[in-house]
Amino acid sequence: MAARELERPGTGRVSAFDLTAAATTLSIGRRQVNTWAYGGQVPGQPLRVRQGDTMAVRLRNELPEATTIHWHGLAVRNDMDGVPDITQAVVGPGASFDYRFVVPDAGTYWFHPHMGLQLDCALYAPLIVEEKDDPGPYDLDQVVVLDDWLDGIDGNSPEKALKDLVSMGTGSMDMGDTTPMAKSSVLGGDAGDVTYPLHLMNGRPPEDPETFTVPAGGRARLRFINAGSDTAYRVAVGGHRMTVTHADGFPVAPVEVDTILIGMGERYDVTVDPLTGAWPLVALAEGKDATARAIIRTSDAVTSSAPPAAARPKELDGKRLRYSDLVATEEARLSTRRADLHQTLGLTGSMMGNSWGFDGKPFADHAPIEIEQGQRVRLTFENTTSMWHPIHLHGHSFRLGTNAAGARKDTVNVLPGESVTIDFDADNPGQWMTHCHNTYHLEQGMALLVSYVT
Ligand code: C2O
Ligand code: CU
Repeated sequence: MAARELERPGTGRVSAFDLTAAATTLSIGRRQVNTWAYGGQVPGQPLRVRQGDTMAVRLRNELPEATTIHWHGLAVRNDMDGVPDITQAVVGPGASFDYRFVVPDAGTYWFHPHMGLQLDCALYAPLIVEEKDDPGPYDLDQVVVLDDWLDGIDGNSPEKALKDLVSMGTGSMDMGDTTPMAKSSVLGGDAGDVTYPLHLMNGRPPEDPETFTVPAGGRARLRFINAGSDTAYRVAVGGHRMTVTHADGFPVAPVEVDTILIGMGERYDVTVDPLTGAWPLVALAEGKDATARAIIRTSDAVTSSAPPAAARPKELDGKRLRYSDLVATEEARLSTRRADLHQTLGLTGSMMGNSWGFDGKPFADHAPIEIEQGQRVRLTFENTTSMWHPIHLHGHSFRLGTNAAGARKDTVNVLPGESVTIDFDADNPGQWMTHCHNTYHLEQGMALLVSYVT
């Protein structure tokens, strides 16, 4: 893995950061919540680096339990990938760990622990890798992080939420007619099983929205990140279309849409040229009848103008981005070649007992998929469950579908009854997780290992 790192065109520049994970009290709107966070804020401070830089991050663990950091979407060297017991030993309470790796690709990424349910508290932050030659111009480069929140509210916690899911699935909890299951036709049925009291945009609840100010006549680049655990978000800007420029960090041919559905772990970059005024930026929690929001305001807007708090932009029901609309730019395409290996994997499990897995097996029982360096690998995910799953592959950016121009991504939503095929080049040796990015499904076993054997 060190050899692979040497081939990377590094700038030689080192970007160093200190990061402390600790229990903290956060203000979310008027609420005070006890939770775990990086640097005492939610989201954690965005880290910005340049492509080719060496990132040196010292993680100090002041949590009462062990943790790690996973750099979601970045094809880092395997021993920096943050998967406990597989790529590194856990970082115990009071201990620290130095992550150090060359940042291979530009784009919008993020990081979070890869331990239990820790992601469903405030332990997440954006990681923005700037292009060597910034394709700008943008007058505002704004990260927009979406998150479903329950920790510390009315005695709830991720552990309690999981317990409730398991007892719901065994029928020991009386659900009456008030089944909390969220429904969405866009997601093919069950949109999520965890009930969240709040949905946050950049850590702010809907009644306390952040305002993004764009210079008059200017352009905003919005970098959406879904850091949620059990919620897909449908995003839109009132009165505007968005031009999608990147999916999961990699460039796509610009495509104009009204709205985008973003699964957990997915990222989209868009540009918006706001008309004079103040406009709602809304993220609908798909199937959950709740929203997260912010305001986009131009610098020449009349100061008293503000979108009504309950605004539901009609764009949410307009032209929605489909995966088939995503076309990789020339430089982002995989080369044309045949797959050396094709494996089909069933996504399996159900709400009953709340057990999830691949091919009917939880992580501990599923044999790793063995691949060899240099191979073109094809995986087909067949969803046999009645729920959608955002499937994420570590260490690689895959091509979506079998078409040469398919977009590069690292996370893909697989709807019930649907099959999705991905191709990738085995060019980053190590042991890599592929798993559902629903925090609760991952914890309940929906994960397996892609293992380089030579
Ligand atoms: Cu963002 Cu293994 O995950
Ligand atoms: Cu899942």
